[in-house]
Amino acid sequence: MVQSEKMKPAATAVTRTEERNRMRTVANNLILHIHPTKVPKPALRFSYTWGLGGISALLATILVMTGVLLMFRYDASVERAYTGIQTLETQVAFGALIRSIHHWSANLLIVTVFLHMLRVFYTGGFKKGRGTNWLIGLFLLLLVVAFNFTGYLLPWDQLAYWAITVGTSLLYYVPVVGTAVANFLLAGPEVGQGALRNFYAIHVAVLPALLVLVMSWHFWKVRKDGGISQPEPKERQRVERVTTIPHLVQIELAAALLLLAGLLIWAIFVPAPLEALADPLHPPNPAKAAWYFLGLQELLLHMHPLAALVLPGIVLAALALIPWWDRQGENIGHYFRSNVGVATAVTGAILAIILVPLLVVVDEYWLDLPALMAGTPSLIANGLVPLLLTLAGLGGIYIGFRVLFRANHSEALVGLFTFTIIGLIMLTIVGIFFRGANMALIMPF
Ligand code: HEM
Repeated sequence: MVQSEKMKPAATAVTRTEERNRMRTVANNLILHIHPTKVPKPALRFSYTWGLGGISALLATILVMTGVLLMFRYDASVERAYTGIQTLETQVAFGALIRSIHHWSANLLIVTVFLHMLRVFYTGGFKKGRGTNWLIGLFLLLLVVAFNFTGYLLPWDQLAYWAITVGTSLLYYVPVVGTAVANFLLAGPEVGQGALRNFYAIHVAVLPALLVLVMSWHFWKVRKDGGISQPEPKERQRVERVTTIPHLVQIELAAALLLLAGLLIWAIFVPAPLEALADPLHPPNPAKAAWYFLGLQELLLHMHPLAALVLPGIVLAALALIPWWDRQGENIGHYFRSNVGVATAVTGAILAIILVPLLVVVDEYWLDLPALMAGTPSLIANGLVPLLLTLAGLGGIYIGFRVLFRANHSEALVGLFTFTIIGLIMLTIVGIFFRGANMALIMPF
C-alpha cells in the first residue's frame, strides 16, 4: 500500500510526459502536412513575404469561425435580419464583439490579399512554373471580393441596401450575361427578399466551400512548386536549410499573435457600423458602393458604363496573363527585379499620384467629350474614345519606360503595373473622400 502510494506521482508524471509528447507529435504532424520538414533559411526573412499569405489564411479562418457563430442568431429575412443584428449586439454576450471581429477581418482580408498579390508580383513569384498558382491566387482574390460583397447586404441597413443596389445595377451593363446574372442574384426586379436569401446562401455555403477547396489547392501548389520563390543561389553557393519546427513555426506564431492582438483591440474600440433599417424609398445622398468598388464607381462618372466595365476587365485579363507576358527568368526573388525596376516603379507611382487626380478634375470641370463630338453616339464619344485614350496612355507609359529608362520588358512591366495599381488606389481615394452629395467633387475639409 505504502509502496503503491509512493509510485503514484511518478506514474502520473510519466503519463503526463507521454501525453504531452503525443500531443506534440500530433501538432507537429499537422504542421508538417502544411509545411515541408525543412525550408531554405533565406525564405524565413519576414521582409521577403511579410507573412501576407499566412496572415490572409489566418483571417480567412477567423472569418469562418466568427461567421459560424453569427449564423446562430442571423435570420435572412427582410423583416428580421436587421432586428436580429440589433439583438445580437445588445443582448448576446460578446455578440457585438464577434460581429465587429468578423466585419474588420473581412475588410482587412481584402487589403492583405491585395498586398500579397503585390508582393508576389514584385518578387517575380509567378515565374518559373508558378503561373498556375498565380491564376489560382487571382481566383482567390475574386472569391474574397465576392465574400465581402455578398456579406455587405446581410445587416439589411441603409448602408447595405444602397451599396448593393448601386453595385448590382452595374451588372446590367455587362454584355451578354449581365442581365441574366443580375436576375439570378436579385431573384426579382430590385434588391429585396429574394436577393437577401440568395446572397446569404452564396455567402455561407457556396463561397466557403469554394474558398476551402481553392485555398487548399493554392497551398498544395506552393509545396509542389518547390516552396516559395527564392533568388537563385550564386555559383557553388549552398543554400542553408533549417527545420520548419521551430524556425518557421515560431515566426508564424509570433505574427499570428500580433495580428490577433491588433484585431481584437481594433474590434473592441471600433465597432462594426450599423445604420438605420434599410429604406428602399429614401436613398442616402450620395449613394456609394462598398469602398473596394469605389474606384470602379469613380470610373463610371467619367466614362460610359460599358467602357467603365471593359477597362477593369482588360486589366484583370492582363493580370491573369502576367506569368506568360513576363517570362524573363532573371532576378526572381529580388524586389522590383533590379535598380531600373525600382526607378520604373517609383516613376509609375509618382505619375499615377499626379496624373489620375488631375484627369479627374479636368474631366469634372472642363473636358466634355460628348459636347466636343456632338452628334456622335454616347457609347463612342463617352465610351470608346476615353477607353482607347486610356489604353493608348498605358501603352505610351510602357514605351516611355523602355526608351527613357532603357528598361527591359520585365522592368517596364513593373512600372506599368505600379502605375495601374496606384491609379486604381487614387480613384478609390477620390471616391471615398472627395465625392459628396450627388457624387459632386468636394474637399473633405
Ligand atoms: C485568400 C487568399 C490567399 C491566401 C490565403 C494565400 C496564401 C498564400 C501563402 C501562405 C503563400 C506562401 C508564401 C507567402 O506567404 O507569401 C502563397 C504563395 C503564393 N501566392 Fe497566395 N494566397 C492568396 C491569394 C493570392 C493571390 C491573390 C495571388 C495572386 C494573384 C497569389 C499568388 C501566389 C503565388 C504565385 C504564390 C507563390 C509565391 C512565391 O513562390 O513567391 N495568392 N499564398
